[in-house]
Amino acid sequence: MLTLPPCIAHRGTRVLAPENTMAAFRTAHQQGLSWLECDLQLTRDGEVVIFHDETLERTTNGVGKLSDWDSDKLAKLDAGGWFKDIFRSERIPTLTQLLLFAKVSHMGINFELKPAGASTDMLVMKVLEALVLNPMPPEHVLFSSFAMPALTLLRHYDANVQLGVLYDKWDKSWRETASCLRASAVICNHRLLTPRRVQAIHEAGFLSLAYTVNRLSRFDRLRSWGVDAIFIDDPRMLTR
Ligand code: G3P
Ligand code: MG
Repeated sequence: MLTLPPCIAHRGTRVLAPENTMAAFRTAHQQGLSWLECDLQLTRDGEVVIFHDETLERTTNGVGKLSDWDSDKLAKLDAGGWFKDIFRSERIPTLTQLLLFAKVSHMGINFELKPAGASTDMLVMKVLEALVLNPMPPEHVLFSSFAMPALTLLRHYDANVQLGVLYDKWDKSWRETASCLRASAVICNHRLLTPRRVQAIHEAGFLSLAYTVNRLSRFDRLRSWGVDAIFIDDPRMLTR
């Protein structure tokens, strides 16, 4: 069973450091957060890397689709200068780099799979392979995706992984979908949630997670409805 903290560092601490970089993950740890969320994609030559957008322009000095790049060239891009000059040396992390960090930091990780332009099957296989080589305690790992084929494949290849079904729009068949996948969590855009929906998610036997909240009043309200864990960009929100 998953034991999640109230806060999960979304893409690391993306208001304090460039999102989905090792700097962001280290900052999350330094700020006292015990879980982080990151986005996983596949390069053209089959390396799993941590990256959010389908294209490189917003958060690197590269151009075009990530899935059209090979890992050696991608590894040379500046993934932090767009955020602040002092982060120019940040690179797009590989999943393996993050798993090595998890080993020493003991952080729990929500891996969000984004198949984007790549093969879903290959992404799932490579992610599971990486975890075999660098294992994490099972209770520290939650996989999620908006892409149902990715979740279905994860469940097909591993009967025991913890899955979270992601929703950006309310879907009336959430209960059936989450049950079929034997998911642990239903993860919603926080705007979709109401006290009744949170209660229904719990009554159906799932954890209720919400993304992404950057206002303390909203955070407190969701927690008062019983939301189990909330994705946040800025941990300082909690101490102001
Ligand atoms: O997993 C929660 C959240 O990360 C989903 O949206 O676009 O930030 O990956 P996005
Ligand atoms: Mg994400």
